[in-house]
Amino acid sequence: MSDRFITDTLNQAETEFDVTLRPARFEDYIGQAKVKERLELFVQAAKGRNDVLDHVLLSGPPGLGKTTLAYILAEAMGVNIKVTSGPVIDKAGDLAGLLTNLERGDILFIDEIHRMQRAVEEYLYSAMEDFVIDIMIDQGPNARSVRLNLEPFTLIGATTRSGLLTAPLRSRFGLTNRLDYYQAEDLKAIILRSARILNVDITEDGAQEIGSRARGTPRIANSLLRWVRDYAQVKTGNRIDPDVADKALSMLDIDADGLDEMDKRILTTIIEKFAGGPVGLGSLAVSVGEEAGTIEEVYEPYLIQEGYLKRTPQGRVVTERAYAKFGIRPDAKQPDLL
Ligand code: ADE
Repeated sequence: MSDRFITDTLNQAETEFDVTLRPARFEDYIGQAKVKERLELFVQAAKGRNDVLDHVLLSGPPGLGKTTLAYILAEAMGVNIKVTSGPVIDKAGDLAGLLTNLERGDILFIDEIHRMQRAVEEYLYSAMEDFVIDIMIDQGPNARSVRLNLEPFTLIGATTRSGLLTAPLRSRFGLTNRLDYYQAEDLKAIILRSARILNVDITEDGAQEIGSRARGTPRIANSLLRWVRDYAQVKTGNRIDPDVADKALSMLDIDADGLDEMDKRILTTIIEKFAGGPVGLGSLAVSVGEEAGTIEEVYEPYLIQEGYLKRTPQGRVVTERAYAKFGIRPDAKQPDLL
C-alpha cells in the first residue's frame, strides 16, 4: 500500500513550524475547554474498558486545532494515527488500502471529510459500523463482491462545513464537537507558549497585541508571531512589545481589529459596489478575486462572528459596524438592510 494518500495539508515550512508548536497532550492544549473536557472523558472511558475509541467528528473553521486534537487523541490512547484528506481518496480501493493497514485501535484522520466522493463515502458506512468493507473485484460476468474484515479502528473526521456532511455519515460518529474561535486571552497564552518554545523575547502585552489581531485562530496567531519575530530581529533588537507588534502587523496590512486585506476588501466591495448588499456569493467572489469556497469557509465566518456581515436569503449584507469601521455613512435609501 503506498503512502500516496497519507497527506498533510500544510506545506513544508508550515508543517515544521506547526509541528514544534503543536501541543502533544491535553495538558498543553489551551482553550476549547468544553471540547477538551469531553474528549478527555471519552478517552478515559474507552481506556477504562480497554475499548477502542468511538468515531469522532470535529468541525469548525480552519486553523483552530482539529488536526492537533486528532494527534492528541492518538497520543492519549497510545495508538498510531494515519492522516489523509477527503479529496485525495478518489477510489474505493484507496480507502480499502488505508483501512486494511490499520491495527486495532489505530486512528484514521480524514481532513475535509465533507469533500470525499459519495461513492467512496458509502464504503465508510460499514467500515465504521461493523468494521467490514465489501469491495467489488473484476468486471462484467466475473464481477463479485469480496468482504474484508478490518481491525476495530477510530475514524476522526474533520470538516469546515459540517452542514455538508450526509446524514448517514454524520450519524455514525459517536461524538461530534464544534470548535469555536478562541478568546483573546487564550490566544495570548498560546503565543506566550509558542514564544517560549521558539526562544522569542516577548512581553505579555506584546502577546496580547498579536493575539487580539489573530482572527481568533491559533494557526494565524503562530504565523503572526513568526512574522513579528522576524520584524523584531531586523528592526528592534529582537524584543517584542505592543509597539513592535503593531508596527510589524501594520506592515502586513493587518489592522487593529485583526482584519486583513481580503477581509477589508470583501466589506468595502459590498459597500461600494453593491450598495451594502444583498449580493450573491458568486458575484462577490468575482468582484474581490477570491474563490467562493474560500470566502465562505475562511473569511465569512469570522466577519459574521464579529458582526460585520450577515448572510440573508437574498445574499450577503454588511452591517452598521462595517460602515462605521470604514467611516462611511450607510446609504440613506437602504436603512432596512442594516
Ligand atoms: N498551538 C496551536 N494551537 C494550540 C493550542 N490550542 N494550545 C496550545 N498551543 C497551541
